[in-house]
Amino acid sequence: MKAGWNTRDIPLADRAGRAQTTQGFAVKTAGLILFLGAALAWADTPREQAPAPSPERVRELVHMVRQECGSCHGMTLQGGLGPALTPEVLRGRPAESLVVTIIHGRDGTPMPPWVRFLNEAEALWVSEHLLTGFPAE
Ligand code: HEC
Repeated sequence: MKAGWNTRDIPLADRAGRAQTTQGFAVKTAGLILFLGAALAWADTPREQAPAPSPERVRELVHMVRQECGSCHGMTLQGGLGPALTPEVLRGRPAESLVVTIIHGRDGTPMPPWVRFLNEAEALWVSEHLLTGFPAE
């Protein structure tokens, strides 16, 4: 009788132990899913939520585009070493793709990355204004 209890006790304890491990795994998995969900939600956050550049910053951006970018794309952005950046030439291009080019540059071409000089919201502002007609300084 006693031996019978003992043999049954072992698998019971074993099962309990395993149940706990499974629970721990479930908790960890749930945590991971929550984390991934949060990361995805963050990545999905529309860019519009990034604050638009302030009027002072806009003046700096216009100056940068006219001077720095203009040194390759032309002061009037009609093209030079780099292609024209006018609404006619850029028509139909998603602003997002221009943002990527501005932030990261184009490997293997003279187009340099500007990541150190403007953030994504600012690159989006520049792109949207290149697409609609860039303001004069
Ligand atoms: C050193 C020269 C140089 C400078 C400075 C430069 N670019 Fe460029 N850029 C280029 C070249 C060359 C290309 C074409 C790359 C290619 O062949 O794909 C280009 C491409 C681009 C494109 C893609 C155009 C298209 O039709 O796909 C955009 C947008 C752009 N540049 C924006 C800018 C902006 C904004 C700045 C300033 C913040 C800037 N560039 C500064 C040389 C330059």
